[in-house]
Amino acid sequence: MPEKAHYGLLKGKKGIVFGPLDESSIGWQIALHAYREGAEIAISNVAAALRFGNIEELSTLCGNAPMFVCDASKNEDVDACFKELKEKMGSVDFIVHSIGMSQNIRKQLPYEDLNYEWFIKTLDVSALSLHRLVSYALKNEAINKGGSILSLSYIASQRNYWTYSDMGDAKSLLESIVRSYGPRLARQAIRINTISQSPTYTKAGSGIPGFEKMYEYSDLMSPLGNASAEECAEYCMTILSDLSRKVTMQNLFHDGGYSSMGATIPMIKLAHEVLNDKELALRVGLDE
Ligand SMILES: NC(=O)c1ccc[n+]([C@@H]2O[C@H](COP(=O)([O-])OP(=O)(O)OC[C@H]3O[C@@H](n4cnc5c(N)ncnc54)[C@H](O)[C@@H]3O)[C@@H](O)[C@H]2O)c1
Repeated sequence: MPEKAHYGLLKGKKGIVFGPLDESSIGWQIALHAYREGAEIAISNVAAALRFGNIEELSTLCGNAPMFVCDASKNEDVDACFKELKEKMGSVDFIVHSIGMSQNIRKQLPYEDLNYEWFIKTLDVSALSLHRLVSYALKNEAINKGGSILSLSYIASQRNYWTYSDMGDAKSLLESIVRSYGPRLARQAIRINTISQSPTYTKAGSGIPGFEKMYEYSDLMSPLGNASAEECAEYCMTILSDLSRKVTMQNLFHDGGYSSMGATIPMIKLAHEVLNDKELALRVGLDE
């Protein structure tokens, strides 16, 4: 395969990416692409992920990027992380939050019967953690004027996706935190956005019940097809770079056009086939 083009979009910038686990992770691809675009990179995850993921490999690929153990649901961890980051690298120009987790989804509890302790944990780990990262980055003066803060969202923040369960609530909160922080951060010319990504085969993604079907449906409904983690990382580079200086408080769809579609020809054809074939309808559970 030909070498990919790099544009030096992040030359002279420093940043930290929270949440890379393995090569499939969106955060992994973002860290790698940022490094290739010229940034000096740090990476962070919880202790277990640093033990069981391939994060050392990522660090090597990113020019021996420093690694920080940090549970983003713990104030003291996040505070210590930014202090240590500042000591080792100085303040940064961008922060990427690529973190999500729902115990309720892992255990496949129905939405009507959520475990509330886990529900609170979902909101804390997947949404409040963004608030916490921003808050401690500011307190430690660890983010530079003109910086960019980016998190990953999913369209279930705005529309119902049955099996996405309490993560839909977490993504709504995440996008709301982005709007609430926007004008406050703008006082230092710092911008904050989410990118709403297509379903992507990652550890977190494929843990969602029926993920394969969700992925296929979304692919058929997207004129450009689902976006991969690598393609997502490429888009992220523009949002971390100075090319998007005036973009803030946005939820930016990176989904092959999915979010603007009503119906696509392949989906209509499929539905037509099923509705006119009783046996097939029975097989896929549409007998009523
Ligand atoms: N995969 C998809 O289909 C998809 C689609 C849209 C958005 N997203 C979002 O992208 C982001 C990254 O997820 P991914 O799909 O790359 O999966 P992933 O499993 O590779 O990454 C999730 C990361 O969150 C980390 N994490 C969990 N709890 C944490 C905590 N307390 N503190 C710090 N880190 C913690 C995990 O260790 C893991 O590295 C998530 O916000 C996810 O919701 C994913």
